[in-house]
Amino acid sequence: MDVSDAELARAVEILKRGGLVAFPTETVYGLGANALDDSAVRRIYAVKGRPATSPLIVHIAHLEMIRSVAAEWPDAAQRLSERFWPGPITLVLKKSAKVPPSVTAGLDTVGIRMPAHPVATALIDRAGLPLAAPSANRFTEISPTTAEHVRMSLGNAVDLILDGGPTRVGIESTVLSVAGATPILLRPGMISKREIESVIGPVNSVVQPSSGTAHASPGLHARHYSPRTPFYLLEPGQTGPQGRGLVLQLPHEPEQFAARLYAELRRADEEGWDWLGIESPPQSPEWLAILDRLRRASVPR
Ligand code: TXA
Ligand code: MG
Repeated sequence: MDVSDAELARAVEILKRGGLVAFPTETVYGLGANALDDSAVRRIYAVKGRPATSPLIVHIAHLEMIRSVAAEWPDAAQRLSERFWPGPITLVLKKSAKVPPSVTAGLDTVGIRMPAHPVATALIDRAGLPLAAPSANRFTEISPTTAEHVRMSLGNAVDLILDGGPTRVGIESTVLSVAGATPILLRPGMISKREIESVIGPVNSVVQPSSGTAHASPGLHARHYSPRTPFYLLEPGQTGPQGRGLVLQLPHEPEQFAARLYAELRRADEEGWDWLGIESPPQSPEWLAILDRLRRASVPR
């Protein structure tokens, strides 16, 4: 499970010549390419089957790398980076001219994150390159939280998969825009709105907790992160449809729930049930990001 020096060196070689390397982060596995190499970035979209309208996150290892990626570094970004980086929050900023339009789907902003995983940090640092990386799954599939998930989703389409073991956080990073006058939460994550507001004050939210169809940001499609088996978010006491179904049992703490969720969904999806269900967690702030993912993965009941 540990990544050797020789493997890291090979990964760096692959990235420098425009190849793709899947690597672990603390949230989910990423499918990485040199963010400053347009044709390498285009390969990411091809391998994922991802629409060109869906922008990628650029991963950095230290703050000096910001210069090659962002055109501005507002005070809010400085404060948030001091508090949360390395960690599971992506900041959307005005992009630098060095970042090709393929990375940002033509937007004048770019999402940037400093991941908290030793393999990710070592890879980015040794390559000396910012890495554009979406989650390492095919478009509309559940994000991978193990190297085996990546192998099952992408197989030989990726040049190398670095195995750093199961990811700790388990769901994708919080995405926050600090490119405009008021910060906007674009995708909820385990770093909550409340925690962000304790650092920079009021944050607007385009994420409607009670609606499963909010178009939070380009690429955040309502139905996303789905298993193939029909999946139902069940209110307490509600039952699933007819047929042979499985109601998943997950831990009662949000951190442990998030860490297990995608692996449990993938495993149950392989088992050939008619339907899958999960009992809805509480509507409280610490469950918001999980509820968002469950709503996107589920079909209405
Ligand atoms: O935890 C994560 O964020 C993982 C790991 C690999 O870092 N990555 C990830 O990437 O989830 P992806 O591509 O699956 O999701 C990227 C999200 C999308 O919702 C996209 O719309 C948003 O980030 N995003 C990226 N750049 C943006 C921009 N310039 N403006 C608005 N949203 C942006
Ligand atoms: Mg994704």
